[in-house]
Amino acid sequence: MTNKKKLKLGAIIHGVGGHMGAWRHSKAQADASISIDYYKGQAKTAEEGKFDLVFIADGLFINEKSLPHFLNRFEPLTILSALAAVTSHIGLVGTVSTSYSEPFTIARQFASLDHISKGRGGWNVVTSPLEGSSLNYGKKHPKHSERYRIATEYLEVTKGLWDSWEDDAFVRNKETGQFFDQNKLHRLEHKGEFFSVAGPLNISRSPQGHPVIFQAGASEDGRNLAAQTADAVFTGHETLEDAKDFYRDIKLKTKAYGRSEEDILIFPGISPIIAQSFEEAEQKYYELQQLVTIEQALNVLGRFFDHFDFSTFPLDNPFPDIGDIGSNSFRGHTDRIKKKAKENNLTLREVALEVATPRTAFLGTPQYVANLVEKWYVNKAADGFIIHSSVPNGLEDFVEYVVPLLQEKGIYRDNYEGATLRENLGLPVPINRYVNNSVGKN
Ligand SMILES: Cc1cc2nc3c(=O)[nH]c(=O)nc-3n(C[C@H](O)[C@H](O)[C@H](O)COP(=O)(O)O)c2cc1C
Repeated sequence: MTNKKKLKLGAIIHGVGGHMGAWRHSKAQADASISIDYYKGQAKTAEEGKFDLVFIADGLFINEKSLPHFLNRFEPLTILSALAAVTSHIGLVGTVSTSYSEPFTIARQFASLDHISKGRGGWNVVTSPLEGSSLNYGKKHPKHSERYRIATEYLEVTKGLWDSWEDDAFVRNKETGQFFDQNKLHRLEHKGEFFSVAGPLNISRSPQGHPVIFQAGASEDGRNLAAQTADAVFTGHETLEDAKDFYRDIKLKTKAYGRSEEDILIFPGISPIIAQSFEEAEQKYYELQQLVTIEQALNVLGRFFDHFDFSTFPLDNPFPDIGDIGSNSFRGHTDRIKKKAKENNLTLREVALEVATPRTAFLGTPQYVANLVEKWYVNKAADGFIIHSSVPNGLEDFVEYVVPLLQEKGIYRDNYEGATLRENLGLPVPINRYVNNSVGKN
């Protein structure tokens, strides 16, 4: 089996967790979101488990109703640079928004991360669903479709900048005094609808050529951006059937853009709850659920709908029809919530509690969880998984108990295959657009 055909694994490091009440758990480290030692520990645990990558998610707007982790957390590129120094094989992936940053700065920062980590950098490209982000940047929040048009051009520019220098452009010949080869320097001279960027980038081409591009939008525009430009996709599904549909759709769309199915890897996010018995795993889920009040659950739900206030609706009536609210925000997610509420005739209370503490299918003994991981993988619902556990020791349990079972099954690596994230993911290094091509030569 080649490394390309093996299961991939990633871990979200998110301090006190993607859950409103997890920080209150008796075993939780309440300041984990801002603890370098906690982040280092999680990255090292994931590396012991031979994970492909750790991932730092991000957002640009908070208010009093936000998840505790969102209120007080590290900026992704800063923490990833620190983690680069204390790890040696694991990929380092972080979110940056294309709606609230400039391609020149971000191309430079990810090229730096890729150099610092010797080829382990990756970027999760998001378009910032939260309208409030605009209040922090003094500009209008672009509409959903415009955000994706911006993202498409942004990626063209960034990738172009990463090709500014050919791999051997810096000759550094002390005898002749030649520092770089003029013919291997290329200016982008980009002038488009949203960006005007001359280049060249002021850092050499990084070990991976281009840091690995991830995308996580679930909407039609998000999927198209992924199919056109991304190396990997983060996604979220409750059932095997939904995950398979998504997988098929992304692979087909990728082919439609003239790429191969193997050029894009799909990582559903899962929050496993593992224990030595099913009863104990159920108990862990129950404990987590009890840490959220119904008021907090309504806030968690509301955030996906652009911080919509659900508290004015009767809790035990069917989930209210709020029209298109949220469609300019987390569209893929809000569509799923509305569909599920309608199909199952759920009340507002039921929807809010479920969204606040989603019940995971990956709950049970190590053997059960390992079998389910294998089932999704073999059935083409996933090329890998991104683990984001909110129960204390969730990652540690996965690495200690589930990873050895996946290795025994022969679907997961015993050792890293390569030195870079691209090598471990089985992705090629992009060819510099200027090599063997006179276009853009100075
Ligand atoms: C595993 C995973 C990680 C994500 N990480 C982020 C993130 O860090 N920041 C963010 O704004 N959105 C994140 N998202 C959400 C999407 O990137 C996207 O913003 C959201 O789905 C809205 O896009 P859409 O309207 O195209 O669905 C994540 C989604 C998944 C499944």
